[in-house]
Amino acid sequence: MSEGAPRPGQDHYVAQVRTNIGVADGHRLLTLICPEVAQTAVPGQFLQIRVSVSGQDPLLRRPICVAAAREDEVDIVVRVAGRGTDLLARETPGAFVDLLGPLGRGFTRPGRHEPVALVGGGVGVAPLHFLLTSLADPSRVRVLLGARTRALLPRQPGLSGLEGLRIATDDGSEGHHGTAADLLAGVLETDPPHRVYACGPQPMLAAVARLCIQRRIVCEVSLEERMACGIGVCMGCAVPMAGGGYTRACREGPVYDARAVKWE
Ligand SMILES: Cc1cc2nc3c(=O)[nH]c(=O)nc-3n(C[C@H](O)[C@H](O)[C@H](O)COP(=O)(O)OP(=O)(O)OC[C@H]3O[C@@H](n4cnc5c(N)ncnc54)[C@H](O)[C@@H]3O)c2cc1C
Ligand code: FES
Repeated sequence: MSEGAPRPGQDHYVAQVRTNIGVADGHRLLTLICPEVAQTAVPGQFLQIRVSVSGQDPLLRRPICVAAAREDEVDIVVRVAGRGTDLLARETPGAFVDLLGPLGRGFTRPGRHEPVALVGGGVGVAPLHFLLTSLADPSRVRVLLGARTRALLPRQPGLSGLEGLRIATDDGSEGHHGTAADLLAGVLETDPPHRVYACGPQPMLAAVARLCIQRRIVCEVSLEERMACGIGVCMGCAVPMAGGGYTRACREGPVYDARAVKWE
């Protein structure tokens, strides 16, 4: 990645790493200089990032959500899950990163004063942070974040200190002892929002979807299916639909209306 810059084509860019900081154990926030993506990305979209130096190993690009976009730069949050994300998380300022994007379908923007809740699990907070920063009135937003333990909660600048922020950890090391879906269940009882947006592990998304469908609250989920090509040609990201058949998370998703998805 850092050696030589491939020639960009349409939606194919070479971005330079501006900064790389730790935001939780095994989580890095990278700021990439890429004005084209910064000016066109919408919350919920993702980038397909080449993580190999030679272009051969690992062969496949890795999908990573846009976590914020400003004039000429975008943020991504990388959780080290395996070899590819480990290589990406080690990129140093000045290095070049080869990426495709922005890709996929993003979140539907809520009405200007519509009360909404954002429910994030682990690194799933990244696209929700981007959505939050794009809202006209973030003061009306409830942000419910969960992680296995305190050390794994991504501390993204702009989230801490937010009035509507509530935390849950599976082990009770910070905030509510339980899950972000538990927090949502409480909010739906006392002061239900008009819309819920969620991103995180599959069991959390299924629980959030169930709660919202039962109460007829509009809910959009961002699915983190495994992907191969990321551009709609391989069917490696097939998502079963409630009405039958499959769609491609990389083209028709990764954001879906929770009612459209067939949950296990
Ligand atoms: C649309 C989309 C957006 C994503 N956004 C982000 C993001 O913003 N930040 C981030 O850190 N990660 C994100 N991911 C997940 C990330 O792409 C995977 O963790 C990464 O591809 C794993 O590659 P690897 O080489 O590090 O690990 P591998 O060696 O390929 O796998 C390591 C472990 O992670 C598991 N794994 C691999 N891919 C996934 C996946 N998609 N979901 C769950 N488990 C997986 C494998 O089963 C294995 O157990 C996103 C995924 C998708 C589809
Ligand atoms: S990852 Fe190839 S079609 Fe979606």
